[in-house]
Amino acid sequence: MFAAEAAPTFYYYIQNLFMHTIEVDHLTKYYSNSRGVIDLSFDVSKGEIMGFLGPNGSGKTTTMRMLTCFFPPTSGTARICGHDILKEPLEVRRKLGYLPESVPLYLDMPVRSYLRFFAEVRGIAGRQRRARIDEVLEKCSLTHVAHRLIGKLSKGYRQRVGIAQALLHDPEVLILDEPTIGLDPKQIIEIRSLIKGLGAARTVILSSHILSEVSAVCDRVIIIQEGRLVAVDTPQNLTRRLQQTPKILVRAQAPADALTQTMLSIPGVVSVAPGIEGPDAFIVAVEEGAPVINSLAQALCARNWNIAEIRPVDMTLEEIFIQLVADDTEARRR
Ligand SMILES: Nc1ncnc2c1ncn2[C@@H]1O[C@H](COP(=O)(O)OP(=O)(O)O)[C@@H](O)[C@H]1O
Ligand SMILES: [Mg+2]
Repeated sequence: MFAAEAAPTFYYYIQNLFMHTIEVDHLTKYYSNSRGVIDLSFDVSKGEIMGFLGPNGSGKTTTMRMLTCFFPPTSGTARICGHDILKEPLEVRRKLGYLPESVPLYLDMPVRSYLRFFAEVRGIAGRQRRARIDEVLEKCSLTHVAHRLIGKLSKGYRQRVGIAQALLHDPEVLILDEPTIGLDPKQIIEIRSLIKGLGAARTVILSSHILSEVSAVCDRVIIIQEGRLVAVDTPQNLTRRLQQTPKILVRAQAPADALTQTMLSIPGVVSVAPGIEGPDAFIVAVEEGAPVINSLAQALCARNWNIAEIRPVDMTLEEIFIQLVADDTEARRR
């Protein structure tokens, strides 16, 4: 009898120890006439701040709406703190705080009344309500504007009210959809540091279409493109992964195929891909330490092709993103 009673507790403990706070399992959503997301799988560990990065229309909001049980997936599922979004939506909602893409704020309400209203909706009992509201006001640096009308606040402060609302029930997981969109640079820095602070005690997923933003705040980044997962890694590893081979930008007036073949025949050249700098641009990946620039220049001159530019390239984060997305598109075409 002892074993029978002890066993579930023990397993629960072990399970908790290794459990990812968010487990996304082949999540797929088709709208009636368009794709939302296709076959997304990833995990987020307890305490992690995960960035969800992709261009507009790539499926960030769709994914977040499924995780928050706003609508069900077409197939696949996800678990939040071990609770399945399909089978246990109430438990999932209890564990989650959600900042939607456009927060439905009531502009003619004072901040405190707005939070009180949501605390009531959340079923936070009267005795706890005031304490919780004070706590989230404090956490989001809103205490001094608690009696102001939301409509009189700056966009950055309104966004904090949205985050305060998401924190009311002290959720383990925070899902923030484009939390810094439309904010000015100063407000962006403030919201970022607020999110970083919140991430210390919680698991956070935040979406953005700006790479530098995500890498400034997040422990890991998920990159999606056209509804599909392209990469999941730390910002550092993503950078390293793509910079393993040094790259050279070549711009020259020459038939693309002949130019590509010529460059590929040069010792030390690993690959040649179209560049984003224009129709005459190519990115040449070369072996570490190979003195390729001179050989490239000589080979092109020998064929009388006009060289507009040859230079080594350091990839910016934006370029890394474009490269990852391009590699992924290429891989799927094959
Ligand atoms: N309610 C909807 N009805 C139909 N299609 C939608 C709906 N919401 C989003 N989509 C489509 O799903 C894709 C992903 O959109 P979304 O998740 O909003 O991307 P993101 O948040 O990354 O900008 C887009 O092609 C978009 O047109
Ligand atoms: Mg969106």
